[in-house]
Amino acid sequence: MKTIVIAIDGYSGTGKSSTAREVARQLGYVYVDSGAMYRAVTLYMGENGIDIRDEEEVKRALEKIELTFALNPSTGRSHIHLNGKDVEKEIRTPNVSQLVSQIAAIPEVRRKMVAQQQAYGSQGGIVMDGRDIATVVFPRAELKIFMIADVAERARRREKELNEAGILADYKSILANLNERDRLDTSREDSPLQMASDAIELDTTSITFDQQVHQIVGMARKRIGC
Ligand code: CDP
Repeated sequence: MKTIVIAIDGYSGTGKSSTAREVARQLGYVYVDSGAMYRAVTLYMGENGIDIRDEEEVKRALEKIELTFALNPSTGRSHIHLNGKDVEKEIRTPNVSQLVSQIAAIPEVRRKMVAQQQAYGSQGGIVMDGRDIATVVFPRAELKIFMIADVAERARRREKELNEAGILADYKSILANLNERDRLDTSREDSPLQMASDAIELDTTSITFDQQVHQIVGMARKRIGC
């Protein structure tokens, strides 16, 4: 059976990651959360006091960062590891969310992440979500989805998600952070968030999680031919 690459891009909190994970599960594909990679780099830079305005310091720090994904038996999900340590929870904290879009705008950081992401997708059979997956990482992906949703709804969903994960965060600051990240992600010079010309827009404001998964899996099956 033919295997394809599915690229899911969109704004913060549209449900990309949870949707992409479930789509991958239903198709038996690998799921890669590219945002987790930028978040893990951000965690490293913060914990090690790296001056992100100093290009050389950033380059030296990047050489010391190794990112891997491994299945966590207790959650049944793939977790990101930073230099061998599971940091799946630490990367979701408000501190990391505050800084991540600035780190993700640094070209050296992007170069390293994109190379690793492309290597993951070289065999197909992958679902990856992020900001530049359809435009930069896999411009030839067979299925490209661009997810959008009303920002107030996105903030509500993120608040629920963080509370469920035991991470303290209030609606107002989440909303401010989503707006600020959208602004930085769409306006940066290197690989800004934009919809690929051949992507399909999916507005998730008033559809359920199951509906959005169902729609994407349906489109994928058509392309796979099964
Ligand atoms: O889950 P959420 O939508 O909050 O964001 P994420 O996917 O975890 O990504 C966190 C941040 O990483 C984004 O706001 C972007 O600044 C950056 N990012 C990126 O630049 N390119 C990607 N492919 C994925 C994430």
